[in-house]
Amino acid sequence: MINNAKLQPVGTAVTELDTPAFIIDLEKMENNIDTMAKYCKSANVNLRPHIKHHKTPEIAAKQIEKGAIGICCQKLSEAEVMAQSGIENILITYEIITKFKINRLMEIGKNANLIVLVDNPNNVKDLDEASLHFNTNLGILLDINVGQNRCGIEPNSTLVESLSKQIISAPKLQFKGIHGYAGSIQSIANDEERKKADSLSMNKAEIALEQLKKLNIPVEIVTAGGTGTYNLTSKYEHVTEIQPGSYVFMDNQYSNVMSDFDVSGTVLATVISKPTKNRAVLDSGMKSISTDQWPPKIKSHKGITVDTISDEHLTISLDTEDAKQLNIGDQIELIPGHNDTTVNLHTHSFGIRNGIVESIWSISAHAMTR
Ligand SMILES: Cc1ncc(COP(=O)(O)O)c(C=O)c1O
Repeated sequence: MINNAKLQPVGTAVTELDTPAFIIDLEKMENNIDTMAKYCKSANVNLRPHIKHHKTPEIAAKQIEKGAIGICCQKLSEAEVMAQSGIENILITYEIITKFKINRLMEIGKNANLIVLVDNPNNVKDLDEASLHFNTNLGILLDINVGQNRCGIEPNSTLVESLSKQIISAPKLQFKGIHGYAGSIQSIANDEERKKADSLSMNKAEIALEQLKKLNIPVEIVTAGGTGTYNLTSKYEHVTEIQPGSYVFMDNQYSNVMSDFDVSGTVLATVISKPTKNRAVLDSGMKSISTDQWPPKIKSHKGITVDTISDEHLTISLDTEDAKQLNIGDQIELIPGHNDTTVNLHTHSFGIRNGIVESIWSISAHAMTR
C-alpha cells in the first residue's frame, strides 16, 4: 500500500498549511451545530443530521453529543464507516438493492440499529428474507415522493397500504413510518416561495399518513426537511424528526438561502502563477473544489473574481489595484459553491482555531459512493 501525501501536524499555523486544503473554522462549525441542536430542542422535534455533508465520524459524534438522536447516511459505505466508529442509530435514506448490498446491510445491523427506505415490494421481500437468514432486525420507512420526483411511492398510491402490510407481516422487519425529503425545495432563495413549496410537500406526506391512519397502522417516525426548511418542516405536527446536513459547513449556494448558519468549511489555496498583473492562478481546481452547482467565491480577498476552473488550476482576475498586489505563494480562501461534493474530494480536513491547526480529521467516508 502506498502512503498518502504527508500531512503537517496539529499546531501548524494556517499560513504554513500545505494546499489545497479543506479547512474548518471550528468555532463557526461548533456554533452551527449548537444552533441547530438548540432549535430542535425548543421546537420539540428530533434531530437526525445527514452526514453525507461532512462524512466525518468525529463531527457526527459532536452532533450526537449535542442531542442528535442518531444520523442519516445516504450510502451503505457511509453507514459502514459510521457504524465502525461506534454510532448506533443510523437511518440510511436510500433504497438498498442487490444481494451483495443487502448482505452488507445485515452485517452493519449486527452493531447498529438500522432503518432503511423502501419503495418496491420485491425489495421488501429481499429484505424480509435476508433479515430472517441473518436474524437481524431492520427498521423500515416508506419512501414517499413529496415532490422531488426522485425515488419514492406516490402518497395516494395503493402501495402505501400494500407495502406497509407486507412490512408488518415480515417477522424481522419493523414498520417505522414515512420518509418525505424534498431536496429540490431546499435551495429556493425566496423565503415565502420556499415556505409554500414546503407546505405543498408536507401536505403530500399527510396524504400518505391519512391512509396509514385509516388502516390503524401506528407511525413512529415521520422524517423530512433539510437545512433550507429546518425551521419550516419541523413546525408540522406530524413531523417527528428532521434531517439537515449542510448547516454544519454551509456553502456559497446555501448562504444565498439563509443566514442562520455561518460558512465554516472552506478551501485554502495558494497562488502558483501570476502570468500578468491582472491574472493569477491558484492550485485548487475541480479535483479539490466542486463546481457542480455554484462557482466558488473568494472569501479572503476583495476585488478578485473567479474566472475559469480546470482540473488542478483555478484562474482568477485581479480587478482592483489592491488585488493586483497579490503575489505568487500568497494564500486565498475560497467558499465552495457546494460543500457536499467538495468534502467528498478530500481525504482530510484541518480544523482551525486562532489561526492554528487544532484538529486533523480523516474524512473517513470520502469518495464512498457504494
Ligand atoms: C435524503 C436527504 N436528506 C437530507 C439531506 C440534507 O439536506 P441539506 O444538505 O440540504 O441540509 C439530503 C441532501 O442532499 C438528502 O438527500
